[in-house]
Amino acid sequence: MIALGCDHAGFPLKEEIIALLEERGLAYKDFGVHQNERADYPVYGRKAAEAVASGECEYGLVFCGTGVGISISANKVPGIRCVVCSETYSAVLARQHNDANMLALGARVVGPGLARMIVSQFLDASFEGGRHAARVALIHEIEQDYLDQIPSGAEKDVL
Ligand code: RB5
Repeated sequence: MIALGCDHAGFPLKEEIIALLEERGLAYKDFGVHQNERADYPVYGRKAAEAVASGECEYGLVFCGTGVGISISANKVPGIRCVVCSETYSAVLARQHNDANMLALGARVVGPGLARMIVSQFLDASFEGGRHAARVALIHEIEQDYLDQIPSGAEKDVL
């Protein structure tokens, strides 16, 4: 299952990628925005990212004007490694070396044909593990160190 999310700027490209996923017979869950209306990218980046982080979806594809805002938003969710790409090389290497679990695209940056190639190659590439696994574990360690500083619900009640 692939999680999808976008704001108004990313909406047309999300529609194009939905067509690609349907052509390829890939299942997806669309977290909105569901029509071309003004929308805040953090809201939809977060929804798609939470679906990936929870394991409900294997990958996430998110879209805004540049891909930047929605990727930053998705990356705030622990466990997410979201890359914004406007060419295929980075998209493939993001899977092979960084085990990226989300891809962000800028609808004002890449055309539909290139976006289709980037998405296809991202989904077809596999994490290589090995030395890269140790580095991804170090990324996770950074995240965990900060999460460990956040008091649990019980501790917050005492403060
Ligand atoms: C919306 O105008 C635009 O700012 C947004 O889609 C995105 O590009 C932000 O990063």
